[in-house]
Amino acid sequence: MYSEKVMDHFSNPRNVGEISDANAVGQVGNPKCGDIMKIYMKINDDTKVIEDVKFKTFGCGAAVATSSMATELVKGKHISEAMQVTNKAVMEALDGLPPVKVHCSLLAEEAIHAALWDYAEKHGIKIEGLQKPKNDISEG
Ligand code: FES
Repeated sequence: MYSEKVMDHFSNPRNVGEISDANAVGQVGNPKCGDIMKIYMKINDDTKVIEDVKFKTFGCGAAVATSSMATELVKGKHISEAMQVTNKAVMEALDGLPPVKVHCSLLAEEAIHAALWDYAEKHGIKIEGLQKPKNDISEG
């Protein structure tokens, strides 16, 4: 029922952990299952390129796989390009997810948006198309 790519990113997730000197952090909750996702980013203040990104989750296997793929897709991208990493794009990159697991993939997209929102707020900038995620539960 899961694609090989989902199984690969679930068993061997990329970019798990924390970034101690992250300058963008976002945390979101999943209203459907109560699971939580936190994303840390190190964004270059001059070029606005996401140089590093890591995640931690209390989510299921599909949440782990989608976050692993989503972090791979935003790494090295300009913050405006990172907006194109939607949950749909992540699911396509993973060759699909079972319909009951689609809500899990939203956690990754929303956590990325929460981290970008945190960065934009702190720096007084606007990122085209970015809104504060409705399930944002970031502290401070
Ligand atoms: Fe909660 Fe998948 S069941 S994130």
